[in-house]
Amino acid sequence: MSDIAPTPRKILITSALPYANGPIHLGHLVEYIQTDIWSRFQKMRGNTCTYVCADDAHGTPIMLRAQAEGITPEALIAKSSEEHQADFAGFNVEFDHYHSTNSIENKELAEHIYLRLKDKGYISRKTISQYYDPEKKMFLPDRFVKGTCPKCKAVDQYGDNCEVCGATYSPTDLIDPKSAVSGATPIEKDTDHLFFELSQFEEMLKTWTREGHLQEQIANKLDEWLESGLRGWDISRDAPYFGFEIPGETGKFFYVWLDAPIGYMSSFKAYCDKSGLNFDEYWQEDSTTELYHFIGKDIINFHALFWPAMLSGANYRTPTAIFAHGFLTVDGQKMSKSRGTFIMAKTYLDHLNPEYLRYYYAAKLTSRIDDIDLNLEDFAQRVNSDLVGKVVNIASRSAGFVMKKFDGKLNNKWTPETTVLYQSFIDKSEEIANLYESRDYGHAMREIMTLADKANEYIAEAAPWVLAKTEGKEAELHECVSISLNLFRVLMSYLSPVLPVTAEKSNAFLNLPDGQWNDIKTPLMNHEISKFKALLTRLEMEPIQKMVDASASSLNGASTAPDGKKGDQKVKLAKETAVKPEFEALAEEINIDDFAKIDLRIAKIIHAEAVPEAKKLLKLTLDIGFEQRQVFAGIKSAYEPEALIGKLTVMVANLAPRKMRFGMSEGMVLAAGPGGNDLYILSPDEGATPGMRVK
Ligand code: MSP
Ligand code: ZN
Repeated sequence: MSDIAPTPRKILITSALPYANGPIHLGHLVEYIQTDIWSRFQKMRGNTCTYVCADDAHGTPIMLRAQAEGITPEALIAKSSEEHQADFAGFNVEFDHYHSTNSIENKELAEHIYLRLKDKGYISRKTISQYYDPEKKMFLPDRFVKGTCPKCKAVDQYGDNCEVCGATYSPTDLIDPKSAVSGATPIEKDTDHLFFELSQFEEMLKTWTREGHLQEQIANKLDEWLESGLRGWDISRDAPYFGFEIPGETGKFFYVWLDAPIGYMSSFKAYCDKSGLNFDEYWQEDSTTELYHFIGKDIINFHALFWPAMLSGANYRTPTAIFAHGFLTVDGQKMSKSRGTFIMAKTYLDHLNPEYLRYYYAAKLTSRIDDIDLNLEDFAQRVNSDLVGKVVNIASRSAGFVMKKFDGKLNNKWTPETTVLYQSFIDKSEEIANLYESRDYGHAMREIMTLADKANEYIAEAAPWVLAKTEGKEAELHECVSISLNLFRVLMSYLSPVLPVTAEKSNAFLNLPDGQWNDIKTPLMNHEISKFKALLTRLEMEPIQKMVDASASSLNGASTAPDGKKGDQKVKLAKETAVKPEFEALAEEINIDDFAKIDLRIAKIIHAEAVPEAKKLLKLTLDIGFEQRQVFAGIKSAYEPEALIGKLTVMVANLAPRKMRFGMSEGMVLAAGPGGNDLYILSPDEGATPGMRVK
């Protein structure tokens, strides 16, 4: 069985760079585990695959957090980098290199790319008016201005959109705006900003997004943006800012999202310097190497629009593909601190084996961008029935006989039936490889478990425990346990990208070196094995419960925020831990005629989906009997779209349609509550049907 080895592919892969101001949680790990599996798989296939990542260390939230902790940003990001790397190592995520965007390589590359874009006329300068905190003496990003929603009058809303009614606006539209940093009333101030002229890349992007670099769902989404025309992208921020100062400017810094993706290049650059790989070979315009970015669906525009435009504008190659994944939910809901389902990597590792989660995520992952759910009971059940019950069991059932009866040696001759059985396992090799390659891990796991079932059926039928007690059946028994261990070896080889540590232990047990994908083509004959030690133990509910309890209790006094993205952790924490409900002020009095103007209708939610680029929005299709409406509702953090489908609710049916960034919103659904997780859509009593007017 000698195959001519194909020329190894040269592949560079990345995961998104985690923000340096928050710890890694189980949501992040979907991505790092997904990428790590792919990296390990490619390496097993004999390809040259390099997996790099880095901490995303710049930006206002990091600057302010460092100030709050009374340390320098450099000290904060150093601490964070150490914690992140420990968490990743704990989950057996193996980077070839882990860097920081606050590095010399990144500074040089960011300046270089910017200057090239500038030389080629892609950078423009515009005066904008922005809110400024007169006490802190700094311009305020939208998320750092809070006030009353100009549309629905909900208090305590962010400067970019309202969590209650879903309206999007600019911070200067807020009523009674306040700086979230100091509490001062911000003033409007003019300032010059630099813009990357994305519109010059419209043709390039229209082609690029349709050339097979993107998943179908994403290409479709991007079409909507491309149709509505691309505007300049604001890439500068004024001092004080933690980042790189822009060459040729004073007091202006690169916006964090400008130098963040360049961090992929600079991490690889640093790796080239130590490994001898050739940087230019991977990044030059006509490179024949492959480049893949694994990302979450929330950061698609940065990777599928801005980044390819920047690269092509600066004469670098563009990505071979962007691989986006969905978001993690726990027990069907957004991860929630109060429910104890906002689980940090570290908390998980304090209680459970990382290989369990790697397997569970693998079993759930597809090549699509649908969200994936970690159901804690299903998690235990799946791990126990598949890994412990089906796979590890094969080894533990056979190993004893080999040790006791055959001096630890496998036999060296198989009957034709046995050979056929083994061959049927090997015949699946390319199919399973293709499933890994296309990131259909869930499908791959199902194929592997079908084989495991087949192995167990074989053992049940051959009944080695009966053979062992029957005179004259030694040879048969020897063959039976030898083939069983060979089948186990094939299964472990197929699983090893997912379960690297278990695979290592299994190799130690089978006396094998680290394997390549095709090693299994040569079966183990006349081969000596070592004593069997438990590879994986059953997953019990008790440690899972302890992990949930620990996650809920880490709420109290948590000093680091769980989600680096928003720069608003304190606000969020306070909201979710608040015991005393805060009531909104009563609205202005109206008379019955005012009320009669509002046409409220019973509506049936017939379709619901998340708007990936909007933090709060779900897109709903409502049936109101005589017609259907599309409505964008700001209830994403409170509801899973699937959970809404089929529900009856109440909508304002005569609200003037509003054009939103993602499409028209033709009405409004009614929901109660302060916002965020704490939001409840209204539903009518039983018997009401779509289209009935609410009076
Ligand atoms: N710093 C940016 C990425 C810059 S890349 C040049 C960022 N950081 S992040 O820490 O917020 O997220 C890192 C990655 O984890 C992102 O791809 C994000 O989509 C992913 N996830 C964060 N929370 C997640 C879930 N709850 N579920 C699945 N993935 C999640 O964005
Ligand atoms: Zn509002």
